[in-house]
Amino acid sequence: METFKNDVDSGLSSNPKSLSSKYFYDKKGDALFAEIMNLPEYYLTRCELDIFQNKTGELIEAFGVNSETYFELIELGAGDGTKTKELLRALAAQNYSFDYFPIDISSNVLEVLEKDLMKELPTVSVQTKQGDYFDVLASLKTSNKPKVILFLGSNIGNMNDDLAADFLHNLGANLSSGDKLLLGVDIIKPQEIVLPAYDDSKGVTAKFNLNLLERINNELGANFDLDNFQHQAEYNQDEGIAKSFIVSTEEQIVSIEATGKSYHFGKGEKIHTEISRKYNDELIEKITANSQFMQHQKIVDSKSYFADYILIRD
Ligand code: AVJ
Repeated sequence: METFKNDVDSGLSSNPKSLSSKYFYDKKGDALFAEIMNLPEYYLTRCELDIFQNKTGELIEAFGVNSETYFELIELGAGDGTKTKELLRALAAQNYSFDYFPIDISSNVLEVLEKDLMKELPTVSVQTKQGDYFDVLASLKTSNKPKVILFLGSNIGNMNDDLAADFLHNLGANLSSGDKLLLGVDIIKPQEIVLPAYDDSKGVTAKFNLNLLERINNELGANFDLDNFQHQAEYNQDEGIAKSFIVSTEEQIVSIEATGKSYHFGKGEKIHTEISRKYNDELIEKITANSQFMQHQKIVDSKSYFADYILIRD
């Protein structure tokens, strides 16, 4: 609450204005993102599911585990587990010895996932861990067991390349030699494919983006009039970064009780709310260069839209 307030205040006081995409995910935001994953334009989830359904054997082989050696399967930001369930089912069927540790900041998400897994895959041992990725990883470090980390869905794409590099550096520092990271990323593609994924025809992504203002209204006592703001998505293939903005459609002043301040918006002024980076081999090389991860394998979906890179900790 305090950090949310401070982040909103500094974001709306800067030029250009910005708000962090990490605040999209309140209850309504979670539901809207679930809706996005089912949109015809949002290919990312379906493509990665294609890999988990049809290239499960390759994934498991790339992990370099065998059914005699116990390992820990740790997922950062587990969500609803749809993709991971495909992997868990295959591992369980082949009698691999492992525990599944889904990590999420939302205890609500973890409760739902745990119940679902108990019903659907009762033989899989699940130990949910609520909290910040690195706090949890630091606590798991003590176990000394071989680890496979899952970081799926191109979630890393919300970080700029410097942050992603820091993140991978820290992640590597919390692992041991031989541990694996399965990093799911969206591949750089033409605008005709990428842009509609962030500007769908039903306007779900627009609602998802504008929900951030509603959240500020609800939690910080602001008076954003959502009719005076619009969703805008931008992407060009050269840069390979989809960007989302909220545009003020008129000149206006918004006040926020929690900060005790007012914020001026010019007509057409944009608030930058999200980046969704797309990748190629060079960019993966670039963000892993300062980490202890080496590129080991790359598994793509049938359309080559999405890639699961398996990286190995040196
Ligand atoms: C969940 C961060 C991968 O960037 O594609 C979907 C979030 N934003 N539509 C993405 C999102 C707009 C999504 N990630």
